[in-house]
Amino acid sequence: MKKTSLFGAAVASVLSVFGSNAVAAEDAARAPDGKILVAYYSYSGNTKEVAEAIHEKVGGDIFEIKAEGTYPEEYRPMTQQAKEEIQNGFRPKLTTSVDNMAQYDIVFIGSPNWWGTITPQVSSFLESYDLTGKTVIPFITHGGGGKQNTVADLTAQCEGCKVVENAWVGYGSRTLGISGWLEDLGL
Ligand SMILES: Cc1cc2nc3c(=O)[nH]c(=O)nc-3n(C[C@H](O)[C@H](O)[C@H](O)COP(=O)(O)O)c2cc1C
Repeated sequence: MKKTSLFGAAVASVLSVFGSNAVAAEDAARAPDGKILVAYYSYSGNTKEVAEAIHEKVGGDIFEIKAEGTYPEEYRPMTQQAKEEIQNGFRPKLTTSVDNMAQYDIVFIGSPNWWGTITPQVSSFLESYDLTGKTVIPFITHGGGGKQNTVADLTAQCEGCKVVENAWVGYGSRTLGISGWLEDLGL
């Protein structure tokens, strides 16, 4: 059996059932060849490091989500602007794009935890692509707050996706344990 098929089958066994994105395990097991994309947004580099560690292990393609707009250099005003953006449901225009999303069956999506949720850039990404039927594996980095609403919000905004419940949730740029996590997912 090909490694990717094995992965698809294993992912099916750990799929979560999240409201309207409920997934029947047998559906996910039908994922064709399991071509992988590792997509992430990173403001200060932690999520990028985790994305690279995942990509190194699973192969496939890696993609950095980038968007228009800037933030103040100072930390507090920066976090304040981000808070307002999140509260207003701001969706920045993306400046990078995935070449042929249709080719991917498994999409890792990485976001820092910002104010307990995913970043506006990741929300823009989720709204910009048809991820219907794809197995989506979230990975979250945080500064001590843990998962909070990140995975639930990502799941709610990922229409028709098969979101894996066993997300990576790690402090900062921590990558220790990623191999074991991927093994749990069957990779
Ligand atoms: C605007 C902003 C809001 C944040 N809010 C939270 C939070 O609510 N909970 C938390 O644990 N960490 C929070 N953090 C810390 C980041 O989640 C953490 O540093 C993350 O690893 C940064 O990822 P990055 O380096 O890829 O941007 C926040 C950071 C920023 C910049």
